[in-house]
Amino acid sequence: TDKVRSSLPLLGKKIMVTAGPTYEAIDPVRFIGNHSSGKMGFAIANRFASLGADVTLITGPTTEKSNYELKRIDVVSAADMLSACKAEFGKADITVMSAAVADYTPVTRAEQKIKKTSNEFNLELKKTTDILATLGQLKTDRQILVGFALETQNEETYAKEKLIKKNLDLIVLNSLNDKGAGFKMDTNKITIFNKAAEKIVFEMKSKTEVAKDICNEILKLVNV
Ligand code: CTP
Ligand code: CA
Repeated sequence: TDKVRSSLPLLGKKIMVTAGPTYEAIDPVRFIGNHSSGKMGFAIANRFASLGADVTLITGPTTEKSNYELKRIDVVSAADMLSACKAEFGKADITVMSAAVADYTPVTRAEQKIKKTSNEFNLELKKTTDILATLGQLKTDRQILVGFALETQNEETYAKEKLIKKNLDLIVLNSLNDKGAGFKMDTNKITIFNKAAEKIVFEMKSKTEVAKDICNEILKLVNV
């Protein structure tokens, strides 16, 4: 009915969201990770699901749980996340890449636990594939692609560069400098840049509220 349609404006829309950190194995017992909790990505996935969308959530290791019915794909490394994203991206009308993907991964993973035999130990790392940039290359005209940026300096310039370079429709800049924003926190402060070079500044709020703001900006770009 019309009533259902107006309360669930995204019925039939396919959304892909990534969340959490990635873990890059060093040996069977160690990894390189980061402090991402997955909260922001889960909040975005929940928000879209609450609007009736068909959500696929690709997440790195996290203790977060979704409140809504969605397709959850658990991954560990940046390479795993890349494969899952490539497999799902074609189906998605809207993709939001909020995962904190490792930029570097060990060149080799030791088969056995590394012993502390030498005084110095150098770990050789190589760059991971930029998943967001890869999706930006694959993107068709009917798809919306949204990325995040985390900066500690020249944040506006760097964020706008990423928007262009990765072929995004929107970029969400996380203001890590503000107290109460960022990793592990329940609140966040964001600024969104779009392709029209508009800058939309938001107040610090709960990640649930931030997710609403992000979804609203995305929905302005699609006809729903
Ligand atoms: N990202 C990605 N794949 C990677 C690294 C990052 O998809 N291997 C995505 C993140 O999910 C985020 C965006 O790229 O949406 C920006 O991440 P960020 O760390 O701010 O930028 P980078 O492009 O990795 O550049 P740098 O870390 O040097 O600032
Ligand atoms: Ca990075």
